[in-house]
Amino acid sequence: MKDIVVIGSGGFSKQVIEIIEQLNLINEEYKLLGIIDDNKSLVGTYVLGYEVIGDTDYIKQFSEQKNIYGVIAIADGGVRKEISKKLNGVQWVNLIHPSAVVSDYIKIGEGNIICAGVVINPDFQMGNHSHINIGTTLGHDVTMLEYVTVMPGSRISGNVTLKSNTMVGTGSTVIQGLTIEDNVVLGAGAVVTKNTEPNYLYKGVPAKRYSKKKSI
Ligand SMILES: CC(C)(COP(=O)(O)OP(=O)(O)OC[C@H]1O[C@@H](n2cnc3c(N)ncnc32)[C@H](O)[C@@H]1OP(=O)(O)O)[C@@H](O)C(=O)NCCC(=O)NCCS
Repeated sequence: MKDIVVIGSGGFSKQVIEIIEQLNLINEEYKLLGIIDDNKSLVGTYVLGYEVIGDTDYIKQFSEQKNIYGVIAIADGGVRKEISKKLNGVQWVNLIHPSAVVSDYIKIGEGNIICAGVVINPDFQMGNHSHINIGTTLGHDVTMLEYVTVMPGSRISGNVTLKSNTMVGTGSTVIQGLTIEDNVVLGAGAVVTKNTEPNYLYKGVPAKRYSKKKSI
């Protein structure tokens, strides 16, 4: 069994814990040691019955002595980037909910999370530490780079590229062949009909360009 920690104790960590539990029902692969969170006041609290056992400094020391597997269950791709660089001794696993329908013809990096009810078609390529939330569909030949976050119920058409640290809001649609550039946020329900520029917020139907605020 692999000793695993889930990094992040917010709402999304509940989904990730349940993926681990569901996978263990099929093939007992993981021993969930606990949850890691940099908010020290949360240490000793519980998420779905699993204890918050320490912060990232704690798990960094731990991973230097012991083989440790992990996954970052934090929605903000920028935060995932910082943590993954800091915890370079952790072995990052891909977690795929058993109800996801995933083509055999995919290439996938590490630290990725694919939630319940996601559908992925052939020739999908996925970088590292990206998330695809519940009920999202991806057409054929989609490319998703690192630290990408796709929120629930999104529709990514064939031949779309989502570049680094893009955040696709709930229920967004991207039509075929487009490129969403680095650090773009798509507001919930956006319908993207043209290639984007990097570092902007796009929202609405059809999606228009807006300046991004620091906190989204
Ligand atoms: C778009 C978003 C990032 C906020 O953008 P913002 O420019 O900071 O928006 P504000 O809250 O300041 O609102 C500004 C205007 O945009 C509108 N607006 C907000 N979100 C919008 C959206 N997704 N699509 C269209 N218009 C939106 C507001 O109603 C407001 O309109 P008004 O000026 O006519 O009153 C945010 O609303 C959003 O959609 N986030 C994605 C959330 C999500 O997917 N969460 C998943 C959790 S699992």
